[in-house]
Amino acid sequence: MYLGIDIGTSAVKLVCAQGDRILATSSVAMETSSPRPGWSEQHPDQWWQATCEAMAQLAAQVMLSDVKAIGLSGQMHGAVLLGRDMRPIRPAILWNDSRATPECDELRAAQPQIGQIAGVLPLPGFTAPKIAWLKRHEPGTYARLAHILLPKDYVGLRLHGELATDTSDAAGTMWLDQASRSWHAGIAEATNVMLDWLPPVFDGHAVFGSVTAQAAAETGLRPGIPVVAGGGDAATGAISLGATEPGRGFISLGTSGQLFVADRRYKPNPDRYVHAFAHTLPDRWYQMAAMLNGARPISWIGGQLGLSAAEVVALAETVSRDRVPIFLPYLTGERSPLGDPHIRACFFGLEDSTTRADICRSVVEAIAFCFADAAQSFGDTIDSLPELSAIGGGSRSDLLLGLIATVIGKPIVRSDDADSGPAYGAARLAACADGALGLSDLGLQPPTTDRFEPTEMAALPDRLDKFRKLYAAVSTLS
Ligand code: XUL
Repeated sequence: MYLGIDIGTSAVKLVCAQGDRILATSSVAMETSSPRPGWSEQHPDQWWQATCEAMAQLAAQVMLSDVKAIGLSGQMHGAVLLGRDMRPIRPAILWNDSRATPECDELRAAQPQIGQIAGVLPLPGFTAPKIAWLKRHEPGTYARLAHILLPKDYVGLRLHGELATDTSDAAGTMWLDQASRSWHAGIAEATNVMLDWLPPVFDGHAVFGSVTAQAAAETGLRPGIPVVAGGGDAATGAISLGATEPGRGFISLGTSGQLFVADRRYKPNPDRYVHAFAHTLPDRWYQMAAMLNGARPISWIGGQLGLSAAEVVALAETVSRDRVPIFLPYLTGERSPLGDPHIRACFFGLEDSTTRADICRSVVEAIAFCFADAAQSFGDTIDSLPELSAIGGGSRSDLLLGLIATVIGKPIVRSDDADSGPAYGAARLAACADGALGLSDLGLQPPTTDRFEPTEMAALPDRLDKFRKLYAAVSTLS
């Protein structure tokens, strides 16, 4: 049995898997703090504590002593800042934090070719500009900085005591030269980072540590279990769906949203903020549109209206009229394809007759419109794909998947375990390290249970057009 640990933003999720079967799952919710507008932080010790709690839930379902290897997955781009003693020197600055916007302009000026090297243009969510911000705004903390990790790698450090990362998480920092898959000295220097602060980079299925006696005491795991490098949540989500080869792609609907297409070649397309990143397996890359708001607007509006996410979607399904508001879902700005950290959300077209069901409908529809924009930014890369798989909590909604299939003009398929995504992918990487799966097995697609075809929806193209025009108008105000 293999264990996958996914350090998400809203929860830590664990999956125990054997072959193609998920034997047990557990999850512990986490909060994000926003001490100032545009800031998004979590303390790394919160991830470890939630992991230990989720492990106790798992122990009630399976024998943890049967775990043969562990894989890690996590939210990408977060800056985990450690001192010489390998303890956090401040809360981690997350992927959806926009404080380092001026530092992005400076980085682009210092490294004009950065889009071709790092696979994406500088935006404040990535790790590198955050360190330039730290030096300027928190010089005392910067002076104590000795190691930088990604979120899942901090949990790795607590499990096995080593500093390490994998290619896909390294890819999301902006310090990686994507083509050679090694740290780029010029970009590190331009953001005030010493190369020896960055961890060694491994393939996702490489073992680089084993559970220490102390971690065993805290988690209930056996000491000595091997831990593999794993991947950022985009890459481990891909492994859960077998998206490792050209022609395979998927959408992810979690706190963030992703449109992901695997490739055997590195193909930067930085102008539309498509991310071209190293995959977690050797000789593979991917292209990804990363939407900062994903399916999160559904739980956000649910919170405001006192409804669960499932109730929001159910209400949205009751609406048949086209006269509903248009919603821009950019609660935390947007990355792909707008590259606009300043934009914020708004409703347009509220009327006296507007109901809360109409509002819910406009929120669900807006998520689909973001995927339409993302698909458009890929150009003809998308045309060659026969279909896209769907994972993440938002993929439970038939309405949302039907709308996305329609606006991007491509069938969407879903499998039974769509919710477990990245944690399951991490467990598969662990199984690969242990020899239970071969590298080629990681490219196998799980059986799909549902299929959503594009349909005719008379008013949708017109509403998508209005959505785009609304962004163009509102972006001049933000
Ligand atoms: C990907 C991205 C998010 C985070 C959080 O570029 O920013 O998907 O990984 O899930």
